[in-house]
Amino acid sequence: MKKLDNKVVFITGGASGLGRASAVAAAHEGAQVVIADLPNSDHQAALDEVKAAGAEGWFVPLDVTDPANIRQAVAATVEKFGRLDVALNNAGIGEGFFSFLETSEESFRRILDVNLTGVFVCMKYELAQFVKQGGGVIVNMSSLAGLKGAPGLSAYVAAKHGVLGLTKTAALEFARRNVRVNALCPYYIDTPLLKDAPPDQRQQMVAASPMKRLGRADEVAKAFIYLASDDSSYTNGTQLVIDSGVIS
Ligand SMILES: NC(=O)c1ccc[n+]([C@@H]2O[C@H](COP(=O)([O-])OP(=O)(O)OC[C@H]3O[C@@H](n4cnc5c(N)ncnc54)[C@H](O)[C@@H]3O)[C@@H](O)[C@H]2O)c1
Repeated sequence: MKKLDNKVVFITGGASGLGRASAVAAAHEGAQVVIADLPNSDHQAALDEVKAAGAEGWFVPLDVTDPANIRQAVAATVEKFGRLDVALNNAGIGEGFFSFLETSEESFRRILDVNLTGVFVCMKYELAQFVKQGGGVIVNMSSLAGLKGAPGLSAYVAAKHGVLGLTKTAALEFARRNVRVNALCPYYIDTPLLKDAPPDQRQQMVAASPMKRLGRADEVAKAFIYLASDDSSYTNGTQLVIDSGVIS
């Protein structure tokens, strides 16, 4: 018996980085995996990996800044698989490091739109489906930046703190409906999101890690499987920190 046997797992931003590693990990655990990502994302490579892990994978185009598109993507998933058991709200962007005074309102709004409002709207449609079918699990991708400040990342930090607020509130509102809602808080993980970080910034990220390395996407995916599966059946409204000890 695998941890997610026959579960339908919906992953936003599933074509790359942490979403993709989580999709592959879910496939290894017996899930049917829906990769929901931008139409121009590298979803075929992710689907191939999911297939190689032995699961049925399916791509649904999704832009989390478009509420109608989110409603359609969740509905299409339910239409294809009959239900939705686990949602990983993971789609997110970074926009480099800018001091508070250099951060434009436009950039602030863009980050909040994808990284916070996108999560809220996804949760709304996922929770509605969970209520209809009698339960489900949400895992939201926050960040260590959801728990502490980070100079140069005001919008990102605000969004990721907000994701934890949504996580705790939904966990309380739906706790008696067989729904659990938790979040992941990774430190810097070596994914395409960091591809534009200058070498000196990367070195600082490594230096600040007690283990003196960045995390790997598969290390976050393992934490996702824990929160997605019945292994965490009494865990609700909290966050799992994956940070080599940075926050300690
Ligand atoms: N890599 C890290 O160091 C790190 C650390 C903590 C948290 N996170 C969070 O993890 C999540 C995944 O990041 P990653 O490192 O895998 O990055 P990534 O760039 O590899 O993947 C992000 C995915 O989100 C998708 N995406 C972006 N905008 C979207 C939109 N509007 N609609 C739908 N999909 C969209 C992209 O196409 C991509 O597939 C993000 O929320 C990020 O903030 C990353």
